[in-house]
Amino acid sequence: MYICICNAIRETDLRRAAQVTNGDAEAVYATLGKQPNCGQCLVDAQSILFEEREMNCETVSA
Ligand code: FES
Repeated sequence: MYICICNAIRETDLRRAAQVTNGDAEAVYATLGKQPNCGQCLVDAQSILFEEREMNCETVSA
């Protein structure tokens, strides 16, 4: 599923990048060589980043 239509960023790409990049959605987009255009995806992208990092912390601490 695409999270960012403007940049064709898939949810899987975002989750993978979240594991190796700190910062907000814009920072993660930059890691992918992208930058927000319309900005409509940023709230959802930020939620996914938070969720992915939370899951990663639980896995590491378990
Ligand atoms: S949908 Fe991501 S910047 Fe437009």
